[in-house]
Amino acid sequence: MMPKKIMAPAALLKEFALTKREMRRIIKDFHGEMERGLCEKPSSLKMLPTYVDRPTGNERGAYIALDLGGTNFRVLTLELKGKGRIAGLKVMKFAIPKKIMTGEGKELFLFLARSIKKFLLADRARLDKAIDLGFTFSFPIKQRSVASGDLVVWTKGFEAKGVVGMDVVGLLKEALMREGLSGIRVSALANDTVGTLMARAYSDPSCDVGVIIGTGTNACYTESLEKIKKLQDLAGRSGHMIINIEWGNFNKLKATRYDRLLDEATDNPGCQILEKMVSGMYLGEVARLVLADLAKRSILPCGSKFLAAFRKPMSLKSEYVSMIESDRSSGLSKMDALLNSLGVSGSSAEERMLIKSACGIVSTRAAGISASAMAAVVTKIDPAVSKKHTIAIDGSVYEKHPGFSAKIKNALKEILGRKASRIRIVLSKDGSGKGAAIIAAVAAQKRGRPDA
Ligand code: GLC
Repeated sequence: MMPKKIMAPAALLKEFALTKREMRRIIKDFHGEMERGLCEKPSSLKMLPTYVDRPTGNERGAYIALDLGGTNFRVLTLELKGKGRIAGLKVMKFAIPKKIMTGEGKELFLFLARSIKKFLLADRARLDKAIDLGFTFSFPIKQRSVASGDLVVWTKGFEAKGVVGMDVVGLLKEALMREGLSGIRVSALANDTVGTLMARAYSDPSCDVGVIIGTGTNACYTESLEKIKKLQDLAGRSGHMIINIEWGNFNKLKATRYDRLLDEATDNPGCQILEKMVSGMYLGEVARLVLADLAKRSILPCGSKFLAAFRKPMSLKSEYVSMIESDRSSGLSKMDALLNSLGVSGSSAEERMLIKSACGIVSTRAAGISASAMAAVVTKIDPAVSKKHTIAIDGSVYEKHPGFSAKIKNALKEILGRKASRIRIVLSKDGSGKGAAIIAAVAAQKRGRPDA
């Protein structure tokens, strides 16, 4: 039995391995897709213009911000004090019921407006208080200005009807009016990656990339206006604009049979291929498919119990993968307790080692792909990496998955050598909400300048 068990991860390792050469190829393909996306040519990278540039750090005023993009919706108020300082942050979190995520779009936006009302009432604020609002909406949006944008497609399990193709700011405004919140002016719409970048850039001018590796994954970066060929009305203008890459949809990646199985079972086959290999929504499922295969091939002797406990797709949550990989107890007794609680009793220490190494193989690939994509974005801005760059990052996988951030750093070193030391990756905790307020401030300032 033993040699067979040891062989399995080796074969798996090979299937999931990312060599330096492969990472370099990813970067090259990424650059090609970025260029095509900027010219509106067919590309798996949408490269969506956001109509906003980085803040100066001197933006001021009180703002309200909304953050929608996962299973929780957050409402925030805060005050920008200038010089990169933020004060008086208040946050309220609302769990979005599944039936709202998958029901009628109008109901989803009414849910948002009602949550804002609850927040304002709890804060004893007047409901008709005049205030600018920044709306972080973490899905692909085709923007026409900083405060309008149509939903291109839902991702991450959202399905609310009648929203794709619609201006989400229009839908929000309608709902706010219906709830009597007439003083709120929706001045900015932003992706969570953009919010994350803005929140860090408010106090750090070297920040030019924003990344999320959580339920979903994506990034944005600052691009020179002259390179955004698809915005013809900007021709000849100098300056910068943040581009939402929507990198989760990048599809030039080597897929294993497990990736293909996973993709075929989703409601968006062929889409979000990178996201399906990297993000928290799918990491557990890749691991489940790998382990189920080992179980079926009798390499995992507790396999029948495993197959029974995890027969349903998506039943092995990414959090479990994190718990499994973080277990350093002798004989992996913590994992044993977890498996027991999930219905897989009587596993041996060797089997648990096999499970842990299989999970590690899946998450190491995720970190390698993330690092390659980050290197591609930085070298798009600065091919020789001659300047210092700060990547603001947020998301549960990056923050909580054991060893994930270290694996990204190592892979960056492998790809870029010493130049990797010019790239700083900084956790921008809950940046997406704060960033939305900063974008609202940038937009409000621009409104005040007729030439802007
Ligand atoms: C999904 C969304 C994208 C978002 C990312 C992280 O990939 O399409 O807009 O930024 O998740 O939340």
